[in-house]
Amino acid sequence: MITGDISSGWWNMKYSEYSVIVIGSGAAGLYAALKISQQIKLPEGILLISKSSLGISNSRYAQGGIVGIVHQNPDDKVSLHVKDTLKAGAGLSDAKVTEEISSASDAVLNDLIANGVEFDCDENGNLTFTLEAAHSVKRILHSGGDATGKGITEGLVKAVRADKNIHILEKAMAVELLISSDKECKGAIIYNKQTDEHEIVYSSAVIIATGGAGQVYKYTTNPSGATGDGIALAYEAGAIIEDMEFIQFHPTALALSPESQNRFLISEAVRGEGAKLINKNGEEFMIKYSEKKELAPRDVVTRAIFSEMKSENSSNVFLNASVIGEEKILKRFPTITARCKDNGIDITKQPIPVAPAAHYTMGGIKADVEGRTSIKGLYAIGEAACTGLHGANRLASNSLLECVVCAYELADYLSFTSLETPKVIDEGIKKMIDVYSRSISSDEYDCNNLKLKLKDIMWNNVGIIREEEDLIKAKLKVEKLQKDFKRRRKCLNQAEYEYRNMLTVASLIIQCALERKESRGAHCRSDYRNTDEVGKHSFVDKISNKGLCYVE
Ligand code: FAD
Ligand code: SIN
Repeated sequence: MITGDISSGWWNMKYSEYSVIVIGSGAAGLYAALKISQQIKLPEGILLISKSSLGISNSRYAQGGIVGIVHQNPDDKVSLHVKDTLKAGAGLSDAKVTEEISSASDAVLNDLIANGVEFDCDENGNLTFTLEAAHSVKRILHSGGDATGKGITEGLVKAVRADKNIHILEKAMAVELLISSDKECKGAIIYNKQTDEHEIVYSSAVIIATGGAGQVYKYTTNPSGATGDGIALAYEAGAIIEDMEFIQFHPTALALSPESQNRFLISEAVRGEGAKLINKNGEEFMIKYSEKKELAPRDVVTRAIFSEMKSENSSNVFLNASVIGEEKILKRFPTITARCKDNGIDITKQPIPVAPAAHYTMGGIKADVEGRTSIKGLYAIGEAACTGLHGANRLASNSLLECVVCAYELADYLSFTSLETPKVIDEGIKKMIDVYSRSISSDEYDCNNLKLKLKDIMWNNVGIIREEEDLIKAKLKVEKLQKDFKRRRKCLNQAEYEYRNMLTVASLIIQCALERKESRGAHCRSDYRNTDEVGKHSFVDKISNKGLCYVE
């Protein structure tokens, strides 16, 4: 690491140089930092930046598990997992990418275990596998019963903290990517919440691992940090963004009241173990929608619940987990049992009120399995990226697998790449630094309120079932919010930056949703019920396409 102060004219900003910068400390960022450190000798070390405390992320809250195509499971094979993934992806999952990720699973999961992550085993010490919707065999590994994300992130945080090559900067947020005049990524501007200052960090390898954007919706299972920052930053930097209209709504989030917006997840694994969805009269209804009933793909179950809620005019349906049996519930779902108990629900006896909530961003920064994006020096992994694995509808538990496989493959790729830190500040970069060294004179925006307005617009108009009129309404409303919010670049605090990024991501989702005049996977249009014969991806690229979305 090299540090100093840049002073030129009226700039005076702290700067540092690292061989690699990793932005985000969920499963993807933590594992990438660790593997890069283990595989490559780096002169200037690795900087791991996180706007949260280390490990606080969507990953931390993952429940059901992680897909493991591992040699210990005789019932499973790569070809079967590829088939299930492609089927759920509704014609948009990339077969080659899926096969690459699936094939790497055995090696990567064993490496995770070697690095201190523990998965649940039976009394003989063999890994145990569970079933989730749209998987043809039991292949989901889990940790702590229903606390897989906690198991993975805690194991990785411990390993990362012990690694001396990794410099950790918590409560600091990347707010802009430094793009040189020849369109290469050379670092980032960060807002350090602890000092309330902006700093420059240079590197020729910047890895975005900032997760998804569930927070742009009113009801979501995602924690508050999931504001799509990395996707917005990459878009502003000119990277290609793919398939943003595909937002996965998880069918079963705990719906205690219409006021509770950040919703606790009731894992799909509960249905995998036999729980049944029932309406307010206690009747099972899934057979009306799919012969796979509770284990149909997520988009199908979500729309079924949505339709039941509409016809009953209620804000939730119920999940009856008592059929699983008390002993198994307590062993497999200790976290869910405890959370429901805290809210007065004994899930061994009482049905759980559930409703769909925004859960996963299938689209994102277009990247390959090694994390390479359309901008040299910029990499994207995990939920912020769109590799083509998930297509129009992600298969359960494929996300954590993608996070760790892409982190592993990226480390391998970088070990063959020259990682010299850039010493030159060219005209393109100077212009960016200029913006961030100026002070802001106007008052702070009330971003908590503004975020709520945006989330409402997205939930009501760009939600589970969409149509042209609503999408246009949303477009105009979001444009108005963008116009009223004067901060195009530099902001005053984290909330303003998040709101700025949420507006960008929301407008990308709306653009792509308007453009896709068909129903496919998680994107359901009441005005275009049919699915086109040939699946196409949507792309948004600020520079060459002037913000327009086109379908290839
Ligand atoms: P995240 O884990 O979201 O991490 C993002 C990190 O980036 C955070 O540390 C955040 O603070 C940081 N960050 C964000 N913006 C910035 C910025 N501007 N500057 C600096 N840092 C920033 N998937 C499965 O496969 N199996 C499951 O069982 C499962 N269960 C889930 C349960 C819940 C409740 C949720 C919400 C998701 C679940 N998922 C599951 C999805 C999965 O957890 C996520 O897709 C995955 O963990 C994403 O990992 P990530 O590392 O890409 O991002
Ligand atoms: C769940 O446990 O239902 C979430 C799994 C996932 O999102 O992959």
